[in-house]
Amino acid sequence: MSLKGKVAIVTGGNSGIGASIVLELAKQGASIVIDYVTHPESTEQLEKQVHALGDRVIGVDADVSKISDWQMLIDETVKSFGQVDILVNNAGIETRSSILDTTESQYDKVLTINLKSAFFGTQLAAKQMIKQGNGGRIINITSVHEDWPMPGNIPYCLSKGGMRMLTRTAGLELAKYGILVVGVGPGAVATPINLSTMKDPKLMQELDAAIPLGRMAKPEEIAAVVAFLSGDGASYMTATTIFVDGGIMHQSPGL
Ligand SMILES: NC(=O)c1ccc[n+]([C@@H]2O[C@H](COP(=O)([O-])OP(=O)(O)OC[C@H]3O[C@@H](n4cnc5c(N)ncnc54)[C@H](O)[C@@H]3O)[C@@H](O)[C@H]2O)c1
Repeated sequence: MSLKGKVAIVTGGNSGIGASIVLELAKQGASIVIDYVTHPESTEQLEKQVHALGDRVIGVDADVSKISDWQMLIDETVKSFGQVDILVNNAGIETRSSILDTTESQYDKVLTINLKSAFFGTQLAAKQMIKQGNGGRIINITSVHEDWPMPGNIPYCLSKGGMRMLTRTAGLELAKYGILVVGVGPGAVATPINLSTMKDPKLMQELDAAIPLGRMAKPEEIAAVVAFLSGDGASYMTATTIFVDGGIMHQSPGL
């Protein structure tokens, strides 16, 4: 129970990777705030699972692309549990559009939900952590695409590239307060964001063949790394990204 006494906020916490992070941090004893914008029934279901583990939990309906909702999310967390120790910036979307066909609204939506949300979440959580005086952990769920271009998914790549520099720069700025900022960069993970690929056996075969470990990750395999980064074992890690990608970024073309 390495996170006993800690309070963690997970954005986009009621599905996919976020839901697995919620359960893993709860297993480690943390009190949990599940941020969500859709599917309240999934949040309720997850709250029951966290309660069953013996931990405290609330769900908060907050659109993290809006700063006012972010402030409300932090305020609700402090009202319920008195503090914020861990923030996981997990909420994210993609449009699968290219430089030639991305519209202004697609660009704004992806950059706002993925990057602006992580920026202001980091800012507001850090202010609360500084007030508390005990440091903290901010974990940004980025992607292999913080570093690895993906033709046909350019707004997503921009947003994750921005999160890479948010992680590095905020990590340096907040180090003096004992607030550690680390990115977790998954490869392909079996979650709702990949439903169209997962429904296509041919695409799945090609994807599995491209991954050195031969398969997509399970969301729990990302959550396990987030739990490690939230605990004492990761006390000397900041301003960097841990890739959890089955080796895909370093695959050899076989030449
Ligand atoms: N699945 C993958 O292969 C993969 C790979 C690399 C990175 N990621 C990243 O992991 C994170 C989680 O994705 P996932 O795969 O679990 O997909 P998902 O679609 O299951 O989860 C995304 C979550 O973000 C929430 N969300 C969207 N807009 C929001 C907003 N404005 N405010 C609050 N929440 C909002 C959604 O409701 C959902 O709960 C994303 O940041 C994604 O980019 C996923």
